[in-house]
Amino acid sequence: MAGNAGAALDRAYRLVSHVRVLCDLSKALSGIQRLGCNRVNRAPRLTWYVTSLSSLLAGCGGEMSTMDVAGPAARDQFWIWWAMFAVSLFVAAMVFALWLFTFRRREQPQRTAREERRIMLRWVLGGGIALPVASIIALLVFAAPTGRGMLPLPLAEGEAERIEVIGHQWWWEVRYPGENGERDVVTANRLVMPAGEPVDFRLTSADVIHSFWIPRLGGKRDMVPGRHSTVRLEAESTGIFGAQCAEYCGAQHTHMLLHVEALERDEFEAWLAERRSPPELRGGFDEAQEAFGEHCAACHTVDGFPEELIVDDKSHDIQGPNLSDIGSRPTLGAGVLPMEEGAIGYWLQHHQTLKSGNRMPPHNQIDTEILEDIGAWLETLEP
Ligand code: CUA
Repeated sequence: MAGNAGAALDRAYRLVSHVRVLCDLSKALSGIQRLGCNRVNRAPRLTWYVTSLSSLLAGCGGEMSTMDVAGPAARDQFWIWWAMFAVSLFVAAMVFALWLFTFRRREQPQRTAREERRIMLRWVLGGGIALPVASIIALLVFAAPTGRGMLPLPLAEGEAERIEVIGHQWWWEVRYPGENGERDVVTANRLVMPAGEPVDFRLTSADVIHSFWIPRLGGKRDMVPGRHSTVRLEAESTGIFGAQCAEYCGAQHTHMLLHVEALERDEFEAWLAERRSPPELRGGFDEAQEAFGEHCAACHTVDGFPEELIVDDKSHDIQGPNLSDIGSRPTLGAGVLPMEEGAIGYWLQHHQTLKSGNRMPPHNQIDTEILEDIGAWLETLEP
């Protein structure tokens, strides 16, 4: 027994020496002190492992971590991922072991051509066909129920809440359809949902393909122009989750963030109710409103905004975010700036620098003071 262990250690040591020789050779050839090779030649340092591990693990948390699951769909996907990872590790280890085995074998066994063919056929059929087929079937068995759980199937206990999300370059339109003649609640770049129950997200796009993804709740799902698809997700408890467009959709794809908040059912209802009726526009901003009507209202809607102030030159086909509750949103420009006093005025002056290529034209022809006034008024817009 002890002899066996000793022999195994000896072999392991020899393997490491081979790697060292390769490392030294590569250094001699390139003159570069390769990071990985230095590790082999040096005694492992505890601090190095601790810092590497802690920086690795730091990626496991946060608002957008698929490791920190907060809903059933994300949890299922998390386990599928780990199962796939484990199987792939196993397969890689087997391939590596076979590879080592071929090196270790000293003498070629004497076989006839027929025997060689039979052995080769066995490997091709087993490793090339049977193994992949078995893996795919196992994966299907694992993954099919997860996929099914994300379909908008009828529920035993009433209907799931339905929220429409529309992708735009580069922002999110979120709509809460009204029932029995109620008006829709429309907001942007912020998604508020009830916690502890399934929610059906009906997805589409207004321009190019985007992808809806709330990493801690599950997904992703493509948003395809001209088509609607629905994905069912659930937040197990209240909280704030990050979401990000997950399909490259143009220059500002990275600046397409969505702020997701899961609230208790009654808080969600209250949030929705206070947005169902048009807000009272705050007085004292006549000039700002006039300027908004002239420069902004052709693309941006503010519920309850006086129609007579809207100057629509009909020269555009762009739809901008609905601004009816912009003052209550946590960020501007789909995650570019945090919402704070003066932020909208600043955004209106510098939006083409902060998020270049976005569809809102530059405002160089408008006085800074007017832009700041518009910003100050917009910040008052909350239910
Ligand atoms: Cu929208 Cu990427």
